[in-house]
Amino acid sequence: MPNGEQIPVAVIGVGRMGRHHARIYRELDTADLLAVVDTDDDRAGSIADNFDCDALTTVDELLEKYPQVKAVTIAVPTVYHRQIAQPLLERGIACLIEKPMADSVQVARQIVDIADTHNALVQVGHTERFNPVVRAISDLEMTPRFIEVHRVSPMTFRSIDVGVVFDIMIHDLDIVLMLARSPIKEIRAAGVAVLGEHEDTANARIEFDDGCVANLTASRLALKTERKLRVFSETSYISLDYAKKTGVIINRTANTETIKDVRTQLANGADLSDLDYTELVNVEDIQIDDEEPLGAELSNFLEAVAGQSAPAVDAHAGYAAVDAAEQVVKAINRHKWQGVESPKLV
Ligand SMILES: NC(=O)c1ccc[n+]([C@@H]2O[C@H](COP(=O)([O-])OP(=O)(O)OC[C@H]3O[C@@H](n4cnc5c(N)ncnc54)[C@H](O)[C@@H]3O)[C@@H](O)[C@H]2O)c1
Repeated sequence: MPNGEQIPVAVIGVGRMGRHHARIYRELDTADLLAVVDTDDDRAGSIADNFDCDALTTVDELLEKYPQVKAVTIAVPTVYHRQIAQPLLERGIACLIEKPMADSVQVARQIVDIADTHNALVQVGHTERFNPVVRAISDLEMTPRFIEVHRVSPMTFRSIDVGVVFDIMIHDLDIVLMLARSPIKEIRAAGVAVLGEHEDTANARIEFDDGCVANLTASRLALKTERKLRVFSETSYISLDYAKKTGVIINRTANTETIKDVRTQLANGADLSDLDYTELVNVEDIQIDDEEPLGAELSNFLEAVAGQSAPAVDAHAGYAAVDAAEQVVKAINRHKWQGVESPKLV
């Protein structure tokens, strides 16, 4: 910050996610954590004790007691995001709203309009953008042709008030939209609800105007945890493991001679079945740092508040992810299986 100035901040909602925001603001020398706000006053009190700040239970109290507050994290349940954000945005206070920005396109649009009207900064907490593997590939010049994503894990019995698309797949929808940089043309999807009324497992095939196709699978009913992204472009193939924070790239240029040689041999009718493909190609590890994604996200937010950079995920990007998620859910509801009455329940 200019002259080592600290930005006065607060965290609203200090449950599973918000407590990490409070911890990181306390650690960042660019932030001055004034207070945490939570309707659960015991929870607010214990987090405030941990991070040496004030404990409050309403936004009104925050605005009255700390009119100097310049930026907040909103980490209350998604259904309350707009209600909490509105009075803050109307005062020009910057809001980092946890993902998903809203539970519907209609509410996401309201948040965008309020922020635009009051010229207030909104960042959306798509933390995966700050995962080192994603940061490592977002600067690469590539036009994806095909993207494959798997994000599956065992049931945690959290966030089951929303389906797996808004809860989990939305992370990847945001990344895929960032990589594809093309309008959505068509979405086909299928999902299955097992434990409640919302889908617990889903697969979506998104085709973009430029022909790029993304195939996303998300499940909270898996027996293992896997978070993988694979991107095929004309110049390279990239494979990332979000969870392990590892990634490899196979560049076409590094393999030109090998590809030429294999083509010639195949054209001449050679039997290459003894060749080990994995040893044939030139595979490079993607260089990855180990910065905590949430720390990088909050630093980016505070830099944006200080006018030093643009937020990596602004209100319009948050809106686009909600819009894509809503289209996936609609496509799931349109999907029919023969002999099954409800498209979702098994
Ligand atoms: N970025 C990520 O990877 C990620 C992961 C998990 C959750 N989230 C998002 O974070 C948000 C919070 O999720 P969570 O799992 O931490 O929920 P949580 O239920 O653990 O915590 C929410 C907290 O908000 C408080 N609260 C509720 N209404 C309030 C109000 N009106 N004013 C003040 N406090 C209020 C609750 O008492 C609770 O302490 C959701 O939008 C969720 O989708 C993001």
